[in-house]
Amino acid sequence: MAARHYDATPPPKALSRFLPFAPPLLGEDELLELKDTLDSGWITRGPRCELFESRCKELLNASGTLALSSCTAALHLGLKVLGVGPGDAVLTTPLTFVSTAHAVMYTGARPVFCDVDPADGNLSPASVRELMEKGCRAGAERLREHKATGLSVKCLLPVHYGGFPADLAGFREAAGEYGLHILEDAAHAFAAEYGGSPVGSAALQRPAAPGLNALSAFSFYATKNVACGEGGLLTGPESLIRKAGVLAAYGITDERKIWGRYAPKGTWAYDVSDLGFKNNFTDLGAALGLAQLRKLPEMQSRRRAFAEIWLRTLSDLDGDLVTLPREAEGTVSAWHLFPLRLKLDRLRIGRGEVAAKLKELNVGTSVMFQPVHLFSYYRKALGHAEGDFPEAEAFFESEISLPMSPANPVPLVEEAAESLRRLLISQAR
Ligand SMILES: Cc1ncc(COP(=O)(O)O)c(C=O)c1O
Repeated sequence: MAARHYDATPPPKALSRFLPFAPPLLGEDELLELKDTLDSGWITRGPRCELFESRCKELLNASGTLALSSCTAALHLGLKVLGVGPGDAVLTTPLTFVSTAHAVMYTGARPVFCDVDPADGNLSPASVRELMEKGCRAGAERLREHKATGLSVKCLLPVHYGGFPADLAGFREAAGEYGLHILEDAAHAFAAEYGGSPVGSAALQRPAAPGLNALSAFSFYATKNVACGEGGLLTGPESLIRKAGVLAAYGITDERKIWGRYAPKGTWAYDVSDLGFKNNFTDLGAALGLAQLRKLPEMQSRRRAFAEIWLRTLSDLDGDLVTLPREAEGTVSAWHLFPLRLKLDRLRIGRGEVAAKLKELNVGTSVMFQPVHLFSYYRKALGHAEGDFPEAEAFFESEISLPMSPANPVPLVEEAAESLRRLLISQAR
């Protein structure tokens, strides 16, 4: 493509004040819910967690919901109740936050990475199929034994990168064909939709074949679309959610006995039926969550408005200096991130320098993600090296995430978009 000309463009201007990358939108609603919770005299898991779970269930059209201490815990317990453990492999993406892979390691299984689709940074069913067909040999069950490790492939773990839904129909088909469970890392995808249904809904978790299950794990970390400081949610079939609830509370068979034991009709006795963990959510977190869910429609429309500002302002650079993110047909993004990809061969500066210059211009940004296989732990533990997943690495090298928080003011985001546009033009080759 011939280089475009942007001759009349003035140089970038610093914003009047700093535009932070991802502050949560908190206010009076959260204060009132927190006050009610403090006044109730119960601040850890209790009735507000249950209310929050039922609100999430309604909103997501989910079968079952379990609020947890984090998405990392939801991923870990999700894998446990799917029966993933030592001797198993889980197919996932290297372009994610480290906890996706860590959760697999906690179970004693091993993550086997497949490369991403350069279009959206999501794991693609095609790369999963290629691994199953070329990287696995037929064992007791068809094509389940991973040749390089001898492990049995048990589960697919796609991530809805940035809130852009991964190809769930493609994964479901592959899961049915190869006999795999699905656990979605939906940390970024609360309020995202696929084929008209919310990510995490029962409709999207229909078994791919008898005996197979699908679960979704969400995050309520401070920067997420629903921000509770810390927190997570597992959605899926009731029976698995109940099992995860036991594991989240030390293995105590009836977790209501933990928080109900001091009530007038409570008792001190309980049984421990499994080696569980301490992964419960708290009523303090749920107080924030209840307030956040009430304003979710407004927060999501602000995210969408910000996406439109970035898209509109940068549209004439698309395909020349940058690649803009797009919602795939039949999907609604949660717009957790605005992952801008720079055309590095068309710019005189690299991604790191673009981020540094934006900071000088008062615009906060981030980079999502450093590919997991290149962290020193995973290089050592799994023997990975640069070049193992070229698409994920190229995506990372060129990606910069722009501010999308609904807490930010519209005029500042408009100024930031114009400053970024001018900065990129000033650095065009
Ligand atoms: C893709 C992805 N998965 C999992 C997590 C872990 O979430 P949490 O911090 O709630 O454990 C994050 C957190 O940022 C994430 O970005």
